Amino acid sequence: MTHVILNAVKNLKGLAVKNLKRLAVFASGSGTNFEAIAQACADGRLDAQVALLVCDVPGAKVLERGARFGVQTFCFNPRAYACKADFEKEIVARLDAAGIDLVCLAGYMRIVGEVLLGAYRGRIINIHPSLLPAFKGAHAVEDAVAYGVKVYGITIHYVDETLDGGRIIAQRAFPYEGNDPAEVHRLGQVIEHQLYVETIAKLIR
Ligand code: GAR
Repeated sequence: MTHVILNAVKNLKGLAVKNLKRLAVFASGSGTNFEAIAQACADGRLDAQVALLVCDVPGAKVLERGARFGVQTFCFNPRAYACKADFEKEIVARLDAAGIDLVCLAGYMRIVGEVLLGAYRGRIINIHPSLLPAFKGAHAVEDAVAYGVKVYGITIHYVDETLDGGRIIAQRAFPYEGNDPAEVHRLGQVIEHQLYVETIAKLIR
């Protein structure tokens, strides 16, 4: 609780000095990218604050990280809603209420639907662990390793209605000649954490 209050005071101080952009981060799992973004905000490397964490997996590890940073969180169970449009209406209401400028998908393993896109198109970005348009989908790294890829990479792109589609904003490649997907994930995540923060910084500038 103390952490939440301290964070709120820090955010208010920040607002008084700078016009901090308000980010929402969406995640379904571990949330290492969430943490990299929240930490960059806390350190002043990003003129932004994570004003909302959205998570579609109750119990996901990212929720612990969100609590540690004192970030307001909306966690929902998609199965509690009749359809995607219903939970996306709720998400849009929360984004609007939080005054969100930019939505950063960070391991949100769900295709964004027309309700959310209708409200925030052009203000939703995603990070994906491949050099798009190669290896779309939830198993990009495993698929690339199975293919014998020698140059891997990370892509950040605007979100549209297609799977891992939308205009590319940033990419970074790295060489790897082995066949261990866990190692590719490890190498890729180091790059992800830097590239996501750098890209958000450019977009909000
Ligand atoms: C990241 O590697 C991200 O690129 C990937 O999920 C991981 C989430 O890690 N996203 C996708 O595969 C989207 N198609 P994190 O929870 O530790 O940030």
